[in-house]
Amino acid sequence: MHPAPPASTKVHGKTIVLQTASSPFRVDDNGQYSDKVQNKYQDGNPWDEKAPPYLQYVREGGQIFFQNCHFCHGDNLNGRGMFAFAFNPIPANFTDPGTIAQLQETFVFWRVSKGGIGLPREAFPWASVMPPWEQHLTTDEIWKVILFEYWHTGYYPRTWD
Ligand code: HEC
Repeated sequence: MHPAPPASTKVHGKTIVLQTASSPFRVDDNGQYSDKVQNKYQDGNPWDEKAPPYLQYVREGGQIFFQNCHFCHGDNLNGRGMFAFAFNPIPANFTDPGTIAQLQETFVFWRVSKGGIGLPREAFPWASVMPPWEQHLTTDEIWKVILFEYWHTGYYPRTWD
């Protein structure tokens, strides 16, 4: 179950309107936003130093994931991290089509930034341990780790229409 998103969210002093914002790292080789770029590079190698910008961002996102998220969300992004079963609700399984595959990328940005603690009243009762990552990561790091989660699972963010 996903809580209703707010119209906008303020992270690090900057307001993001969820329906119009987009990931600054979901970009083609010329740095332009592209919803096709993940498809183009789904089989690419982010560890290649000469990889295009998009795959470099995926790699950086992967580094952020393995520093911060895998304890709960698991090495394979399946929600089976070593701490996962200490929590109720358990951490989201990103390989399940019911999580990020159902969500818009800006919605995920809001969820990662604010964590379980920042959920709106409608989400009550909700005792999630999901941390508010805006306290630990930069805005760019949050977008990159999300980019990695979509690339790794092969799911695409949902669009607003
Ligand atoms: C201490 C454990 C913990 C850590 C560490 C953690 N999470 Fe979570 N996360 C959770 C739990 C529990 C949930 C499920 C409850 C919820 O949605 O709040 C969750 C939910 C989510 C969701 C919502 C998915 C959905 O379908 O609604 C996203 C996205 C997410 N986490 C991303 C991240 C990212 C990115 C990181 C690392 C920067 C991270 N999490 C680190 C525990 C954690």
